[in-house]
Amino acid sequence: MSWMPGAFGAGRHGKPRKADPRKRKRPTGKLLKADVCSAFFYVSKSMNDLDQLVQDAHADFAGAVTPADLENAKARYLGKAGRLTELLKALGALSPEQKKARGASINAAKQQVEAALNARRQALADAELEAQLKAEALDVTLPGRSRDVGGLHPVSRTMERIEQIFGSMGFDVADGPEIETDWMSFTALNNPENHPARSMQDTFYVDMKDGEGRWLNLRPHTSPMQVRYARAHAKKYAGMNPMPEIRVIAPGRTYRVDSDATHSPMFHQCEGLWLGENVSFKDLKVIFTDFFRNFFETDDLDLRFRPSFFPFTEPSAEVDIAFGHGPLKGKWLEVAGSGQVHPNVVRNFGLDPERYIGFAFGMGPDRLAMLRYGVNDLRLFFEGDLRFLSQFK
Ligand code: DAH
Repeated sequence: MSWMPGAFGAGRHGKPRKADPRKRKRPTGKLLKADVCSAFFYVSKSMNDLDQLVQDAHADFAGAVTPADLENAKARYLGKAGRLTELLKALGALSPEQKKARGASINAAKQQVEAALNARRQALADAELEAQLKAEALDVTLPGRSRDVGGLHPVSRTMERIEQIFGSMGFDVADGPEIETDWMSFTALNNPENHPARSMQDTFYVDMKDGEGRWLNLRPHTSPMQVRYARAHAKKYAGMNPMPEIRVIAPGRTYRVDSDATHSPMFHQCEGLWLGENVSFKDLKVIFTDFFRNFFETDDLDLRFRPSFFPFTEPSAEVDIAFGHGPLKGKWLEVAGSGQVHPNVVRNFGLDPERYIGFAFGMGPDRLAMLRYGVNDLRLFFEGDLRFLSQFK
């Protein structure tokens, strides 16, 4: 800042000093003598001051962008040392009339400040809520992510159905190993080593051997379960005379080197065995007729036994069914292998073939599922394609 000598001194020492405009507004001794004037002056002064104060408060509150800012701003007006509080404190020095007028003005100002404060509070709260809603905004135009209800695989459904129907006819349900010994898969079932009947099944062998040095296999059928279950049963009721009948089914996975529209390297079978002192082929026919009519939910279905060969049964038969209606009407469909349990097999159960007699059967749940649901390619069941599987809910 530049300084020029005499610039300030001129008024003091030369020309008469200009009256200070602020001084004119200020109360002087003379003015104080006139009470009316003085009251008017105070009212007018306080109006101006208070208007200014209210205006300041409005600006201050508007400048507060957070609730904390706003509380600080409030303190500057309404707090202990706030501007309004100070004005109220100053009332003490005034005469009763002055106090009344001034007090009323201050209160009016206070109300305006408080109203402004509340309005700003509400505005901040609204803004906060709006920001929050925006942050959590849902885009309702997005397609929803639904949680689909799963369903049982058609083959599992079929297995459950088989178990339920045979269960209702008094059959137990047994489960067994998928990696088998050579004896269980073949020899015990009257299918000796090097016998050509073994070639009926192209078998997967496992790179492991049993206690006798023979390769283990992935069971090519569920028939070993006849042997396992019957041996355990015979052992369990060894002291009982006669032994309770064996009535069991054994559903499960089986494996063969085979793959086309009706064969898969992994497929399912359900073995059955009914053995007692007086079980005949007639019982097999009754059981099967009942089962298939139940399974396909129709009595309009015929059954026939076609002579066949299996090493473990004698005589043996393939079981065919034919529907009396529908797209497959009159067509014989092979659904199971069966027969009277061979005496050598009964012996391998640990039982006397002269005393115990019965029948066994083996059927393919995959085939039954294909017939029930009208599926023409077995591989569809095992490819895991949801477009196919989701139809079975
Ligand atoms: N195990 C035979 C197969 O895999 C099916 C079978 C036929 C099972 C006759 C039996 C039976 O129990 O008696 O082809």
